[in-house]
Amino acid sequence: MRVCETAMTYTSSTIEAPAAAQCPRHIAIIMDGNGRWATQRRLPRVAGHTKGVETVRSMVEACVRRNVSYLTLFAFSSENWRRPTDEVSFLMRLFVSVLEREIGKMHANGIRLRVIGDLTKFESHIQELIRCAEAKTANNQRMTLTIAANYGGRWDLTQAAYKLAAQAVAAKEVPSIDEVDLSKHLAMAYAPEPDLFIRTGGEQRLSNFLLWQFAYTELYFTDTFWPDFDAQALDLALDWYRQRERRFGRISAQLEAPKNLLSC
Ligand code: FPP
Repeated sequence: MRVCETAMTYTSSTIEAPAAAQCPRHIAIIMDGNGRWATQRRLPRVAGHTKGVETVRSMVEACVRRNVSYLTLFAFSSENWRRPTDEVSFLMRLFVSVLEREIGKMHANGIRLRVIGDLTKFESHIQELIRCAEAKTANNQRMTLTIAANYGGRWDLTQAAYKLAAQAVAAKEVPSIDEVDLSKHLAMAYAPEPDLFIRTGGEQRLSNFLLWQFAYTELYFTDTFWPDFDAQALDLALDWYRQRERRFGRISAQLEAPKNLLSC
């Protein structure tokens, strides 16, 4: 068996079928619908983002309570720079205020924070804030909260390929490369692949999120706008997830009973 040789070791879903489980270990979310939520209420779009932060808070809490080990939130994509300048600036300020205000509480609750994406495009004070928040919470073990910021799945694959190429140049030979070699250089090499992907807001696309890691992720789409997505809505997604037969290429007769039979 070849596994990703990171600090923790995780099996790749395409190399070996992971053990079946009733509860997703890793949930990844596209928090969509903030703008429409606000527009429906005749509020400026950014009011939806402010309200969305409340949902982030309650979702972190709900996932901790349900023993989810990894929660990954797509806060700002590499394509979101194309939005009006005012909205981009607002989102940056919101990100900074979340980092400044929430990190103490996260730390007290045993949450490890990681931020993935091309952080070089952020102002240096934001980069420093991210580094401090990650360092402060580095040893926490209750749940890992990953914020994807200026993240794109294609950027991630490209930077991983670049690192492999740089290694080959340094070694003056082109080594044989397999998927484990590449996955070690992905921004989220520290986490298992997501079991469950949730996208709120009615669209049914991946929008350049975790393109590599979603190989065998269960994809759940809901019309609920992110500011309205609450613990009950999460439980509906988890109920749906439990109905999935995760075969990873096998047939039904080959599957074992799921290991953690308790509800999340
Ligand atoms: C998509 O809704 C949402 C975003 C691009 C930003 C998400 C940001 C937050 C929820 C707040 C900050 C979060 C953290 C973790 C710091 P949209 O604006 O595309 O909505 P629409 O499709 O209705 O226009």
